[in-house]
Amino acid sequence: MRDITKSFPGVKALDGVNLKVEKGTVHALMGENGAGKSTLMKILFGQQPPDSGTILFNGQEVHFKSVKEAVNAGISMIYQELSPIKELSIAENVFVGRYPKTRAGAIDWKTMYDSCQKIFDRWGLNYNPRTKIKMLKTADIQMIEIIKAISFNAQLVIMDEPTSSISQNEIEMLYDFIRALKRENITIIIITHKLDEVYTIADEVTVLRDGQYIGAKPIGELSRPELIKMMVGREMTNLFPSKDTGYGDVLLEVKNLNNGSKVKDISFQLHKGEILGFAGIVGAGRTETMRSIFGLDPYESGEIYLEGQQIKIRCVRDAIKHDIVMATESRKDDGLVLCRSVEENIMLPSLYRRSKGGILDVKKEHEIADSASKRLSVKTSSLSTMANFLSGGNQQKLILCKWLLMDPKVLILDEPTRGIDIGAKWEIYNIIIDLAKQGVGVILVSSEMEEVINLSDRVMVMCEGQINGCLSKEDGITQEKIMALASEVQK
Ligand SMILES: Nc1ncnc2c1ncn2[C@@H]1O[C@H](COP(=O)(O)OP(=O)(O)OP(=O)(O)O)[C@@H](O)[C@H]1O
Ligand SMILES: [Mg+2]
Repeated sequence: MRDITKSFPGVKALDGVNLKVEKGTVHALMGENGAGKSTLMKILFGQQPPDSGTILFNGQEVHFKSVKEAVNAGISMIYQELSPIKELSIAENVFVGRYPKTRAGAIDWKTMYDSCQKIFDRWGLNYNPRTKIKMLKTADIQMIEIIKAISFNAQLVIMDEPTSSISQNEIEMLYDFIRALKRENITIIIITHKLDEVYTIADEVTVLRDGQYIGAKPIGELSRPELIKMMVGREMTNLFPSKDTGYGDVLLEVKNLNNGSKVKDISFQLHKGEILGFAGIVGAGRTETMRSIFGLDPYESGEIYLEGQQIKIRCVRDAIKHDIVMATESRKDDGLVLCRSVEENIMLPSLYRRSKGGILDVKKEHEIADSASKRLSVKTSSLSTMANFLSGGNQQKLILCKWLLMDPKVLILDEPTRGIDIGAKWEIYNIIIDLAKQGVGVILVSSEMEEVINLSDRVMVMCEGQINGCLSKEDGITQEKIMALASEVQK
């Protein structure tokens, strides 16, 4: 791709960007949130036209006017935001738009299910092609999307943050896929914010910053500090700020919480000013536990106390009334109203607090939204931009923004830095620590082990719906200890 330019109203998403990828290699595309990575790939995939610039594929100049043309030329792509058709089966999703037909022109279901099964067998996957997508977890859906992309027999597979919502086992499996594809001389472009990933799987890396092309290098010739500097534009030696203050009295106490399936007899205490980590493998029940505490899902039995008083939480409104808020892990399903503006999303949960007799001071609303979005450096062309148009990482920041405006006592964060770049992570960590210092109790659910280890005062480790153990800073929180507790039920 040569000298690619692309503007949207109010933003220059790409400004003279180059990308050169050699056949049969794994090429990482990196850069901060909103740098233009997804946009560049959508242009390559024929989804959006560039304003200017040329694209050469196998040495030939190409002008894909649609995704179909790109697919026909041998390119496939896994999108950052997954969008499967939930009511349909796995096989129907894998073959959507290209169902095999019988001679009479009807859909050939048998061939479809058989071919799907064959793909799963080849890669050693245990899915039933007839299962409906809505029965699957996010991690499984991500795997199906990956399989789908591979099943086109493409020469070039583009993966936009494929590992942001799968767990370690599946990540290893994806790396195996990638290595197998490479052996068949298939080319891969992978967008990721994870440094480890780049150093494990990539041959070369191209870095973008603010729509500009910064540079490209073979990974063997690039140290981590150098790569970080290319992305962030400055040196960053320490990736985690530390919280050196202790914590106060018990703020929230959960006793014997059960939801009948995924949450079993959960009891723990959260203190004022404490960052309490929740670790465990995907499916351990951390999200389910938090959803029950926040009133998103009902619980069958158990008690919740806030500052010593028992409270009943039947719905989200109850939780919010008691100043308990939660930034959920999925921005699309229950995190944001994508078809509304950045400002509306930020202001929504706290509107009623500022309205007087049902009336809002519009000018003041603007000011508050403006300073809140600046505080987290949300990259948007304006406050009236639709949330849908923000880059993935900036959508994640919006969710945090809206809850911070609520001045919560208890802040539950479920995977708060998923898809967030290194520089912005640093800012978010500092905000979390500041809140804790002001006495907020923070629950941090995260799959990023280093994040949990470095930020938490104590870490609860969950396994199969139960709390398996608690590690504290004084006794030392290590990856080994967490893994040992996360992998096997103790009692
Ligand atoms: N359809 C659109 N309309 C308006 N602005 C857009 C649109 N698509 C992207 N943008 C803007 O273009 C810029 C680049 O976005 P892009 O999604 O390519 O970033 P990214 O590098 O993939 O970031 P992330 O790491 O957060 O996924 C952002 O400022 C984004 O808000
Ligand atoms: Mg993106």
